[in-house]
Amino acid sequence: MKVRAAVCHGIGEPLRLETVQLAPPAAGEVLIEIKASGLCHSDYHQMTGASTPYPFPVILGHEGAGVVVECGAGVETVRLGDHVVPLSIGECGHCSNCRSGKTNLCLEFFAGMQAPPHRFSIDGHPVAAYANNGTFANFIVMKEQNVARIRRDAPFDLACTIGCAVATGVGAVLYTARVKRGASIAVFGLGGIGLNVVQGARLAGAAAIIGIDVNPARESLARRFGATHFINPQLQSGDIVEQLRALAHGGVDYSFECVGSTKLMAQALECTHAGWGVCTALGVPPDGEKLAIAPFELQLGRTLKGSFLGNVKTRSQLPQLLDLYAEGQLNLKDLVTHRLPVERINEGFDLLREGRSVRTVVTF
Ligand code: CU
Ligand code: ZN
Repeated sequence: MKVRAAVCHGIGEPLRLETVQLAPPAAGEVLIEIKASGLCHSDYHQMTGASTPYPFPVILGHEGAGVVVECGAGVETVRLGDHVVPLSIGECGHCSNCRSGKTNLCLEFFAGMQAPPHRFSIDGHPVAAYANNGTFANFIVMKEQNVARIRRDAPFDLACTIGCAVATGVGAVLYTARVKRGASIAVFGLGGIGLNVVQGARLAGAAAIIGIDVNPARESLARRFGATHFINPQLQSGDIVEQLRALAHGGVDYSFECVGSTKLMAQALECTHAGWGVCTALGVPPDGEKLAIAPFELQLGRTLKGSFLGNVKTRSQLPQLLDLYAEGQLNLKDLVTHRLPVERINEGFDLLREGRSVRTVVTF
């Protein structure tokens, strides 16, 4: 079928809205009409060439929400008309990783990285789909196990955010670091991921939530999500690590890096408390960068962790994030600062680059 998609043809090029061919759903696959999709820094990194996991041309977008409009043969767990979020990590439910109770990284995810499915094409030439999603198209095809059913009362332009930003941030607190009640937290970077770490920490009952960002406009926003302190390193003299150690009586219990800077990851580790501090690295650094840390910082009893989508199991746990939203425990409204029709998607990336938006959502 013919679909409409914002296609990225190469590094540094704006997205072009064009007609793309989409293969129909095969057995075990579903066709989803995308209603809304969030713009994420990872999409932007592919556009600028900073981190390019997919070949060009590529349809970006991996934070979508929509409706199932067709089911291939044998599809059992998703029905026509279901409201869904497509998943970059599926959950088959029966592989050794899914059964481990330790990780959300279903083994099928690794298989999909090795051999990504090619469903989109232009004039017979394949077009890649970011994270095997490509939600900047008005229709996409996904495997059944890469689709999460969501509650119907959540608006698409808010629900889409659980597919990346909310899962990554809130999940990192609840399912990666497993933050304890009363803990102290430092959050480096208060964008879409960082603000969700902040509200995840509030949900977990953290006592001190210290937000760190060079953008002064993020202070009031961070406080609305639950931050108790805010530090702008550009307005402070002295070492941020020393400041955090002083503020948190020797170091924070947990820290989170949400920028994608290897320098900040090292600082985030160092500012945690000796003996038990846990640092979770969430940001995506430019391709090829390595993290330099003094082993002694770890030998002092600190732990460095990472996760993909916050270690949230995508079919069994991810939809619960919308229950928290419906109960008023998660703030999605203040996360989506801008809404644009897909025709104006490049303006959305301008807002992102300039730090003027938290999440921009394009609608179809
Ligand atoms: Cu993302
Ligand atoms: Zn699995």
